Amino acid sequence: MSFRFVDLPAAHDDLRADVLAGLAAQPKSIPPKYFYDEAGCRLFEAICAQPEYALCRTERALMDAHLSEIAAAIGAVDCIIEPGAGDCVKVRALLDTVHPSQLVVLDIAGEPLAAAAGALALEYSGVAVSALGMDFIRSLEDATPYLMGGRRLVYYPGSSIGNFTPAEAAALLARFRKLAGEAGQLLIGFDLKKDPVELHRAYNDVAGVTAAFNLNLLARLNRELEADFDLGQFRHYAFYNPVAGRVEMHLISLTGQTVRVAGQRFHFALGESVHTENSWKFRGDEFSAIAASAGWQRVQTWERDGFAVQLYG
Ligand SMILES: C[S@@+](CC[C@H](N)C(=O)[O-])C[C@H]1O[C@@H](n2cnc3c(N)ncnc32)[C@H](O)[C@@H]1O
Repeated sequence: MSFRFVDLPAAHDDLRADVLAGLAAQPKSIPPKYFYDEAGCRLFEAICAQPEYALCRTERALMDAHLSEIAAAIGAVDCIIEPGAGDCVKVRALLDTVHPSQLVVLDIAGEPLAAAAGALALEYSGVAVSALGMDFIRSLEDATPYLMGGRRLVYYPGSSIGNFTPAEAAALLARFRKLAGEAGQLLIGFDLKKDPVELHRAYNDVAGVTAAFNLNLLARLNRELEADFDLGQFRHYAFYNPVAGRVEMHLISLTGQTVRVAGQRFHFALGESVHTENSWKFRGDEFSAIAASAGWQRVQTWERDGFAVQLYG
């Protein structure tokens, strides 16, 4: 078995500066990458199991149905790189079929990543597994020294690309292109535009798990930035904005209140929002245009029940 975990310094503490800046801005916002402390990672896995949130199940079913075709289209690959790998479950299908000699997984939530990747390395003894605790938005390029030579595939499932504005998504895909190199490939999964009522339900599950995930952000700030948010005074509010083509997630203040965060005080008016996440939805051709602007040419597309996986070279 070959496994290493490296916690790169960039994974740590932009939290304080980013949160203070986001709460001082108008409108208020907090970057979605801060959802993922340990509790946030567990809650995200629970979201994927909710009946209303079909995204994860559909992507898995699509991959299962087309796996041999996808693997054949990818061909020989030496190294798979997965940014935001989380529980490292989805990449297993590629390890089983593409047989790379190296897997490099990156996640801002370093400890859960290390546990998941360590378990994976035990099972796949022929694959050298490197787990990097890092914020890839800030420092993707810091992963380069950990990559072996040979042909690379960047794997970015789960519609995580939807958390970026189209311009940010293009910039990130261009950085993936550089990391993958000239002969490199990108396999990416994203949610398609669909019935807005279905999208609305997906982010408003009856069990309240998405609400708990959103509110956990405030609980995290209470724990890590000595904040005193009263979670009962904020409401999870998510809706599909058809003009922008994205689901927006907010935390709405249910009263006029002042909250202390890292020694500073912030006023929230009754009904004021803290914007916590966008999840853009795409048409296949819309997404290909974004990828093309980042230097990726589409090789093949697979679609199922409102979800797409595309291969680029
Ligand atoms: C929506 S989850 C998807 C997890 C997994 N890829 C999947 O498809 O099930 C997003 C993952 O990306 C990670 N993440 C979000 N922003 C990140 C960043 N800037 N740098 C590194 N990891 C990040 C989170 O910790 C989380 O594990």
